[in-house]
Amino acid sequence: MKIFAISASPRNETTTYVTKKALNKLKEDNFKVKLFSCAGKNINHCIHCDYCLEHKKCIQNDDMDDIYEALQEADGLIFATPVESGGVSSISAAIMDRTRALEAVDFNLLRGKIGMSIAVGGDRTGGQDFAHIKIITYYIIHGIIPVSGGPFGSNLGASFWSQDSIEEIKKDNYGMNSLERTLTEFKNFLNKYIL
Ligand SMILES: Cc1cc2nc3c(=O)[nH]c(=O)nc-3n(C[C@H](O)[C@H](O)[C@H](O)COP(=O)(O)O)c2cc1C
Repeated sequence: MKIFAISASPRNETTTYVTKKALNKLKEDNFKVKLFSCAGKNINHCIHCDYCLEHKKCIQNDDMDDIYEALQEADGLIFATPVESGGVSSISAAIMDRTRALEAVDFNLLRGKIGMSIAVGGDRTGGQDFAHIKIITYYIIHGIIPVSGGPFGSNLGASFWSQDSIEEIKKDNYGMNSLERTLTEFKNFLNKYIL
């Protein structure tokens, strides 16, 4: 089964670190994994020109093209975002909006895939839940089945307190536990619902 992960940070730091950790664990269980890090990438925001509705593709040619392709192939999606201004990163929001072009081709393209969420905040309670809610809402709108790791720390997904440093996020045992639990449920759903 194929897992596609997006690390929607403009740099390769804490969000990418924990996303790679998640993918390495999935690889150990024989999932095929692919990471798209947004660091150094060019992803413009949707300009609502409606070109995609008529031409079945986005008018913009940028690094979204790689995401479009990988999203279609994936059975499972990991959306990982740094918390920015109490919610998802601006890059996350751009990616979500731009998938409108995929659904202009076929409304069912993302339906039935399994999705999990990772939110990394510099503060312990900096808006991780709001970031999860946005990602889960996106999943529901697009027919992607969202999973959580359950109560006691991973209610909406994996939540990290980075203190803006890879060395510090490594010590966030609570966050690491929330990742473990969310991954367990992610794998359960993939094995149960993806044929
Ligand atoms: C523009 C901006 C806004 C941010 N807003 C928040 C915030 O509201 N809450 C929070 O906990 N951290 C906030 N942070 C801190 C980042 O979430 C934190 O440093 C995170 O680890 C960055 O992820 P990265 O290392 O993958 O880039 C913000 C950072 C930036 C650059």
